[in-house]
Amino acid sequence: MTRTGPKRPQTVTAKRRAPQGEVYLVGAGPGEPDLLTIRALKLMRRADVVLYDNLISPAILALLPKRAERIYVGKQRADHAMRQEAINALLVERALAGQRVLRLKGGDPFMFGRGGEEIATLSAHGIRFEVVPGITAALGAAAYAGIPLTHRDHAQACVFVAGQQKDGRVDLDWTALARPRQTIVVYMGLLSLPLICRELILHGLPRATGAAVVQQGTTPTQRVVTGTLGTLPARAARANLHAPTLIIVGNVVRLRDKLDWFTPEEQK
Ligand SMILES: C[S@@+](CC[C@H](N)C(=O)[O-])C[C@H]1O[C@@H](n2cnc3c(N)ncnc32)[C@H](O)[C@@H]1O
Repeated sequence: MTRTGPKRPQTVTAKRRAPQGEVYLVGAGPGEPDLLTIRALKLMRRADVVLYDNLISPAILALLPKRAERIYVGKQRADHAMRQEAINALLVERALAGQRVLRLKGGDPFMFGRGGEEIATLSAHGIRFEVVPGITAALGAAAYAGIPLTHRDHAQACVFVAGQQKDGRVDLDWTALARPRQTIVVYMGLLSLPLICRELILHGLPRATGAAVVQQGTTPTQRVVTGTLGTLPARAARANLHAPTLIIVGNVVRLRDKLDWFTPEEQK
């Protein structure tokens, strides 16, 4: 039924104000484009401008509409193309100018992604936004490496932590991490791998606990190096791995021997 009542009177401010834009904070998943959500794809197609991180793969960027302006805002360990404050300010500026702004982040925007800070700024400026969850790297990389993060015979809990160093230290609660029947997934931990393995052993996990590093999980260049807390640092060093990588610690890693199903394009 069509609505036929009198038109609502417009206020003077509503008439004068430029149409406000909005921001879509979208998780792009771990790299494989088929792992984008349908909502992510819909909003990607609607965007006027895209601010994207270094983790967004070329295959995902290729799905953006040609007319959309692309702005690389970076963020690797030593390469911050744009500081967080500048990113926040740019989101506000473009939305206030009436644009539909896509903020595209690797994995899930709320998992070690500073997405919370970005929408707090938008909220403070009264800007409309939407958050689209993505498959976080831990879930994508574990699935494609054939490592179930929980398994009733091996692990009843799983924790996600960030392993980057500050002043030569990794500030983690090692006692809480070194619990039996628990899987640990470490983001941003490759440089700290020897330290992480050493601390977990010192805090009580057996040297023989399974451990793996997954590089570029879910992508055609995925590599997986497995071992134990005792052997993994040397094996990873020999494999000459590079970011992005995830470390998985726990006896679920051993299941990969039977459950490995994914052959990356480059190894076919
Ligand atoms: C700043 S965090 C962002 C995490 C992201 N928001 C998520 O939910 O996956 C970046 C880290 O995620 C991990 N990572 C992201 N994509 C990955 C991938 N495809 N394979 C392995 N690790 C990945 C790496 O540890 C990388 O250093």
